[in-house]
Amino acid sequence: MKHIGVIPGDGIGPEVTAEVEALLDLFRAGGLPITWTVLPYSADYYLAHGRALPDDGLASLAAYDALFVGAFGDPRVPDMAHARAILLGARRGFDLYVNERPVRLLHDGLTPLKGRGRADVDFVIFRENTEGAYVGLGGRFRRGSPDELAVQEAIATRRGVERILRHAFGRAAASPRKTLHMVDKHNALEHVGGLWLEAFRQVGEEFPAVAANQVFVDTFCHEVVRDPGRFDVVVTSNLFGDLISDLGAALAGGLGIAPSANVNPETGKGLFEPVHGSAIDLAGKGTANPVAALLSAGMMLDFLGFGEAARGVERAVEAAVAAGETTRDLGGALGTSGAGDAVRKRLEGGAPWA
Ligand code: NAD
Ligand code: IPM
Ligand code: MN
Repeated sequence: MKHIGVIPGDGIGPEVTAEVEALLDLFRAGGLPITWTVLPYSADYYLAHGRALPDDGLASLAAYDALFVGAFGDPRVPDMAHARAILLGARRGFDLYVNERPVRLLHDGLTPLKGRGRADVDFVIFRENTEGAYVGLGGRFRRGSPDELAVQEAIATRRGVERILRHAFGRAAASPRKTLHMVDKHNALEHVGGLWLEAFRQVGEEFPAVAANQVFVDTFCHEVVRDPGRFDVVVTSNLFGDLISDLGAALAGGLGIAPSANVNPETGKGLFEPVHGSAIDLAGKGTANPVAALLSAGMMLDFLGFGEAARGVERAVEAAVAAGETTRDLGGALGTSGAGDAVRKRLEGGAPWA
């Protein structure tokens, strides 16, 4: 039995997570050995208790086989202290160094790129998830004075860079196109970029079958719009990965469809979440697209060892999208629960999941 900790969070988080729970219900009813506990950690919880998590902090989350997060972000917590404690806390605290963000067009009509289709927009971003500019190293001095100073350091460790590179090379070696692009900015950021580049060349020697290319992040943003078909597996640092994964999402139909996995392949720990945030502009309206959350749940099922169920989710989402049974961001007319139903009805009566 696999036990999932479900954290709906803020804004549209609870709305899209409700669709995930209904999906998990369907699999559970079909015999998949899963169970889950809904956890209240959110801006509401933070404001009510003065802390983001119970006193034992992340330890209370360690017992689950996987975590599912809807989204965090609430104007009442402008510094996102709760999200840093929970989301960035789990990424770092559970050492979930692989942030996998697939960019896959589900239907030709969804890309804003003229003349492009499913064969062109199909790559995966591996974002380093524990270091870079996200370590919270820095400070502010002479606050409020004209001489105020803020420092935010980005770090790269040899071990941290090599392990994400090795993971990405491994994925590229297993992919039919065997092509890896490492996205950096070593022309301006010579220290961190230099370490990435050297490690890339060294780790690349272990994978002679992979075509290993370096591309600057500014050029990547240009090229991925002009010719996305060049990219197969992409690996980059934490902040660049955050930025280019939203760009990738836009090429594949928007944040409403972009899933992600945060995992440590060695320890088997994982946290799964849509790439999007709490979309306060949509919250409470029942119009948010649940597909990003549903595909993230599919990635979670795969990680938990339920590959058939995971592929079932992908196929059902593709079929619902192809039939135009979608929310408005994809051109359909359905609300959040209608779009969730459209996916689930394509799984009913389905197959031996386990
Ligand atoms: P956002 O991702 O919430 O929204 C960006 C745009 O995409 C908005 O126009 C929104 O309506 C649209 N969008 C997002 N999800 C959608 C969905 N499922 N269906 C249809 N449209 C969708 O980014 P933002 O507005 O910059 O941030 C809002 C809050 O979320 C902020 O507090 C931010 O810090 C936070 N955030 C959290 C996460 C996370 O929890 N992982 C990720 C990104 C942003
Ligand atoms: C994401 C989000 C987070 C990040 C925020 C909410 C801290 O944008 O998961 O992409 O920057 O990693
Ligand atoms: Mn982001």
